[in-house]
Amino acid sequence: MSNLIFRKDGTAQGVAKQRLIESIAKPNKRVIYDPYAKYFVIGASIIKLLGHKISVWLGDKIVQGMHEHLICRTRFIDDLIEESTSAGIEQYVILGAGYDSRAHRLKLPLKLKIFEVDQPEVQGIKLSKLPKNISNRENIIYVGIDFNHQSLEEQLLKAGFDKSKSTIYTLEGVSQYIPKESLDLTLKELAKLNSNSNSKIFISYVNKLLLQDSKACFGIGYLKPEKAIKFITNGAAKVGEPWISFYSAEEIQKLLSQNGFNLIENKTLADLNSKYFAPVGRMIPEEHIFKLEHFVIADSINFS
Ligand SMILES: C[S@@+](CC[C@H](N)C(=O)[O-])C[C@H]1O[C@@H](n2cnc3c(N)ncnc32)[C@H](O)[C@@H]1O
Repeated sequence: MSNLIFRKDGTAQGVAKQRLIESIAKPNKRVIYDPYAKYFVIGASIIKLLGHKISVWLGDKIVQGMHEHLICRTRFIDDLIEESTSAGIEQYVILGAGYDSRAHRLKLPLKLKIFEVDQPEVQGIKLSKLPKNISNRENIIYVGIDFNHQSLEEQLLKAGFDKSKSTIYTLEGVSQYIPKESLDLTLKELAKLNSNSNSKIFISYVNKLLLQDSKACFGIGYLKPEKAIKFITNGAAKVGEPWISFYSAEEIQKLLSQNGFNLIENKTLADLNSKYFAPVGRMIPEEHIFKLEHFVIADSINFS
């Protein structure tokens, strides 16, 4: 039944739903703001009716801390994109963009060229739902791809990617859905695309300890970590997008360095809690911390 409701966009909707929930918090209480998430989420009006607090509380009954984890990931990337583009990065490639609306909601330089890369089916739904007069629409190029069967390099070059320009790539909430070989190939293609220009990348990855030591993926005292993992992995599989690839920190570092990138940061919600949640009076207690997924920033070796 799920596949009749979600046309390859089940997990993209899931993340957009958390952005919608965060966006209905009072301005002085929220960590991110995404006014466009509402266009993509089934039941958006019910969420708005319930409000931020009740929606987060209901989510916590199912998987404690997942909302804050996803919002933290969004904010971490928002900051990275605003910093990198204001420092002069010229192109932004959003890999597995789903219902990401950074191109519209962040303050970005007008001359920044943005490529949104995802499955054509998901892009079709996105374009049919975005308001026609949305800001910055003209600066976005949509590139349809299946990472597992098509060359990213080829598709980007066909779409007008400029190899001489500095580029930031983000791969947010995607690596768990594609085989390890596809991630390796994607990184190789990125390195080739920017062999003569600077590049930077954000990648999130799921900690492979989820299979052997689930407790290590949450804060001390987190209740029923195995149940949380089962709920998330079963949910993704049910919408036809199973989690198939998990990594250790060493594996990610090696994969990046083999493809010409230096790992600069590897963070989780636990590291960013006081930076993002304390200022809005929502510091997350240790026993509610969800740190199953890591956030990594790497620079290309020729980055200057
Ligand atoms: C969990 S969603 C994340 C969406 C977005 N990055 C965000 O965080 O809101 C995963 C995204 O990866 C895309 N994706 C998964 N496998 C893919 C593949 N083989 N080729 C292209 N895109 C893929 C999906 O279509 C979906 O939009």
